[in-house]
Amino acid sequence: MSEPTVLAIETSCDETAVAVLQGRSRLLCSEVASQIDVHRSYGGVVPEIASRNHLAKMGPILRSALTHIQLREVDCVSATRGPGLLTSLLVGYAAGKGLAIGLDRPFVGINHLEGHLLSPFFGEAACPVQSMGLIVSGGHTMLMHLVDLGKYILVGQTRDDAAGEAFDKVARLLGLPYPGGPIIERLAESGDPDRYKFPRGMLASGDFDFSFSGLKTAVRYLLPSLRGDFEADLCASFQAAVVEVLVRKTIKAAKTFKASIVTVSGGVSCNQSLRKNLVEAASKAGLAVKLADPKLTTDNAAMIAFAAFERYQRGMLGNLEDEADPNFKIH
Ligand code: KG4
Ligand code: ZN
Repeated sequence: MSEPTVLAIETSCDETAVAVLQGRSRLLCSEVASQIDVHRSYGGVVPEIASRNHLAKMGPILRSALTHIQLREVDCVSATRGPGLLTSLLVGYAAGKGLAIGLDRPFVGINHLEGHLLSPFFGEAACPVQSMGLIVSGGHTMLMHLVDLGKYILVGQTRDDAAGEAFDKVARLLGLPYPGGPIIERLAESGDPDRYKFPRGMLASGDFDFSFSGLKTAVRYLLPSLRGDFEADLCASFQAAVVEVLVRKTIKAAKTFKASIVTVSGGVSCNQSLRKNLVEAASKAGLAVKLADPKLTTDNAAMIAFAAFERYQRGMLGNLEDEADPNFKIH
């Protein structure tokens, strides 16, 4: 008998995504319809436009996913329940519930952050294990102690901007398009990370919280005084400040909570400098590292399907009365 098959839908922000996962690792399809081009001219995501686009794309993307499998072969349907933009969440969540009711299959509403947190374990033979997870995206920057599936302890989080948000805002200050992360990373490759001394927000705060708004403000105040070719050095110096704080706090949190594995996930985790520095620091500290596969870092439904599969396996199902929740807590 084949392993259980999960169909998952993700619409928490501006990506309409559907994936079908058989067992823990057989990804039959993972489709993402990005709306980046639609929102770029606004410099960020416009909620109403996002939800209208989800509505337009949901039918075609579901149909396309279902060329890989017959609907009746789906054992469990899941969708992102939150956190995210309510009007976006509602589209995928209602579509998922409708499918589950029509097929008479169990439905699992998944926390988007649990999707990111578990993504470094995607495809592994064993269940996710005790670890310290850094989740870094456009909306969140968190350190989460994964004790067991569904048992997560929030160790620290940003008090203001998320790390990805800082990349996006600094890109905007430089007149670069949204999303800022990939462009800043590319410019930083040829820059000098030591040219500008930017603040390392809350590095010595003694807790595991983060703050990136001071860094963004430092960039804003420095900019008017700069002349000539400064973009690459500025991007490299800014990126180095973000990466140093993320890496040092993650390693310290792992040691404090006696987790022997550190993981990193979310949109910012595809940043090569962050990955390289985390691997180096963890190796020095005698810790193992699991990096989310770059394909699973920005929003996608494969990570939602994986979290749903783990829950389905353990009978941790949701119920059809649960509502989408823009502030859905993971811990
Ligand atoms: O996880 P994600 O797709 O969406 C949220 O759940 O927020 O993350 C998107 C964020 C954006 O802020 C984007 O600028 C950032 O991830 N990002 C990066 C890189 N690629 C995407 N930040 C730094 N370096 C990158 N290479
Ligand atoms: Zn995300």
